[in-house]
Amino acid sequence: MEKIKKQIRKAVFPVAGLGTRFLPATKASPKEMLPIVDKPLIQYAAEEAVAAGIEQLIFVTSSSKRAIEDHFDKNQELEDELARRGKYDLLALTKHIVPEGVSCIYIRQPEALGLGHAVLCAKPVVGEEPFAVILADDLIDGQELSCLAQMVKIHKKQQCSVVAVEEVERSETGNYGIVEPQPLYEGVSKIGSIIEKPAPDKAPSTLAVVGRYLLSPKIFKHLEKVERGAGGEIQLTDAIASLLLEEQVLAYQFKGKRYDCGSKLGYLMATVDYALQHPNLRESFKEHLTKIYNSHYS
Ligand code: G1P
Repeated sequence: MEKIKKQIRKAVFPVAGLGTRFLPATKASPKEMLPIVDKPLIQYAAEEAVAAGIEQLIFVTSSSKRAIEDHFDKNQELEDELARRGKYDLLALTKHIVPEGVSCIYIRQPEALGLGHAVLCAKPVVGEEPFAVILADDLIDGQELSCLAQMVKIHKKQQCSVVAVEEVERSETGNYGIVEPQPLYEGVSKIGSIIEKPAPDKAPSTLAVVGRYLLSPKIFKHLEKVERGAGGEIQLTDAIASLLLEEQVLAYQFKGKRYDCGSKLGYLMATVDYALQHPNLRESFKEHLTKIYNSHYS
């Protein structure tokens, strides 16, 4: 009998983190609500999920993240006011943040015990099907096809867990989960082993996990068992290492550009690049940048 192929319908967004690297901006407002030009990071992440066929957006939140729920909720007062003023473009922008047929679910992570723990909090909603995990601070411009949609294509073919990876400097391995790749075909490798935040001399390669995962539901069993790892937290990477003992997990070198918007420099780079792609800003912003460049370097 042919194996029933399971589609990815649910995505988990761990958004309970404190965002200390952006204080004081993140004192009263979630880091995922920081805008790149005119859209908050979490909306880019949700749009990437929806474009990849996801129907349920599952946010793992904490008490200081209510703005995220409000962002994806209807704001009748604002809609009425925009309609009254005849601002129909803006009305459409605020109305269709979550497309029809897509639902949002919020789960509280009671304690900040790490990414693995956050994903485990989503277990009752995910159930027994493969699912995506998206870290909104990794903003990925997939250019032709979003990173998650590229991964879904691989999942359809291989029916196993897939994590997105990219090459980083060896000096940077201590910031990422690092995989030991066994190349299969272009851009796709079997993961031989995976380790969270190894020192440069201990890293099995320089292929780093970025914030996109397609995971088998078996991951939950492993998350329940793993002990606290790097930084005293329950690490998703450690659960993937344990999952590897029973299932294949693939590493995929996605096509596109990733911005680490958890860091100020990455955030600024994303802001500049996205502003240069923005139809209404592109020209005047380019002019401004050229002026700055000329005043510094000529
Ligand atoms: C998390 C993961 C790490 C991964 C990274 C990608 O780390 O634990 O394996 O490489 O996201 O952004 P964090 O950035 O939360 O410390």
